[in-house]
Amino acid sequence: MIPPIRANFDATTGHFPQATGHYQKTLEDLAGLYYDQDAFAALLQEWKSRVVYEVWEHRASKDSGDLVFGTSVMQPGQVGNEFFLTRGHQHLLADRAETYYCLSGSGLVLMESPAGEAKVLEQVPGQLVYVPPHWIHRSINTGDSVLTTLFCYNADAGQDYEIIRKRGGMRKLIVTDGNGGWALADNPNYVSPS
Ligand code: NI
Repeated sequence: MIPPIRANFDATTGHFPQATGHYQKTLEDLAGLYYDQDAFAALLQEWKSRVVYEVWEHRASKDSGDLVFGTSVMQPGQVGNEFFLTRGHQHLLADRAETYYCLSGSGLVLMESPAGEAKVLEQVPGQLVYVPPHWIHRSINTGDSVLTTLFCYNADAGQDYEIIRKRGGMRKLIVTDGNGGWALADNPNYVSPS
């Protein structure tokens, strides 16, 4: 039996003392994810190995009925006109769903169905985004402060990152609208799955 616990989160840093794991993604870890490769190379000079996002998680087992929960903490920023994003994935067991509860900041969950339908939902503090089974998903920070999100998914879900790479990225890019907000743009590198 796994002992029950209660977890308490810092809404900005995402830290919680009950975390069992932690990892960070620096800008250089994210090579190839952004559309504007020249802008990426330029920012890399400036950012070197600064952290773009980090994840704190609580993982008790890999059992199908168990849950992994934790926080994702993403810095604000842009590569060219594209907002900072997480790598994104479909679950390896693709029928596993996920929830994202926004603790602080403002951003989006960008989703894409296996057939290539795009869907975007805003992350707002105090609100939850439900990612149904099979949807590819990534988080994007469209604000000017840290985006901190509480996630939860089945412990056996796994992550498939290849599905996005094979498509040349996701169908939609999230870019600045030139007015302090965000806009959807078509990804010119996108290869439709159908
Ligand atoms: Ni996921």
